[in-house]
Amino acid sequence: MNKFRLAFVATLGFAAAGLLSSSCAQQPRVAERTPTETRVVSPSAEEAGRYLILMGGCNDCHTLGWEQSGGKMPESEWLTGSPVGYRGPWGTTYATNLRLYVQAVSEDEWVRMFRERNERPPMPWVNYRTIHESDLRAIYRFIRSLGPAGKPEPDYVPPDKEPMTPYLSFVPIMPANGGQ
Ligand code: HEC
Repeated sequence: MNKFRLAFVATLGFAAAGLLSSSCAQQPRVAERTPTETRVVSPSAEEAGRYLILMGGCNDCHTLGWEQSGGKMPESEWLTGSPVGYRGPWGTTYATNLRLYVQAVSEDEWVRMFRERNERPPMPWVNYRTIHESDLRAIYRFIRSLGPAGKPEPDYVPPDKEPMTPYLSFVPIMPANGGQ
């Protein structure tokens, strides 16, 4: 099994874990529902948001150590951003601390942002443009429900400046044999 298939299988695994935990775990939220609601058929916006975040891979970049933990980090640490930069021709970007960010933007601003923004990589703005509005709202509500946590991420560094933090380089490197 090559690396990409492994990654795909891992993603499916996360998705399945998301489905399972949204139907079985987080018992306290049951109390917040009306008696006629069914957990699996009608997940709350927050549960849908949790699932969408796993499927959308948001933790991969916005949670330091997510990949290394095998997706086992507690929700209390989810989406707290990363002080490790992504350096490429666009400069050096840092995945935003979304736990703090959602405190500063309204739900409507959040939705508009995903429709309009197409900015610096590796945030996949273009791919997320197709997310349904109700799903964007669910994602926002789930992140808000986690509450504020963590520190703000470092500031963006322009291409001509050296970052003062560790960073991952996104510059392609040609192998010694010229790629033959
Ligand atoms: C491949 C890495 C990656 C993935 C996956 C990713 N992001 Fe990002 N995201 C970033 C980076 C890096 C930035 C900062 C970009 C910049 O500085 O312009 C960012 C910025 C953002 C911003 C803008 C915040 C601001 O400071 O203006 C939001 C909102 C956001 N991401 C939400 C999400 C959500 C929700 C998901 C999952 C559906 C997600 N991201 C998935 C890397 C990623």
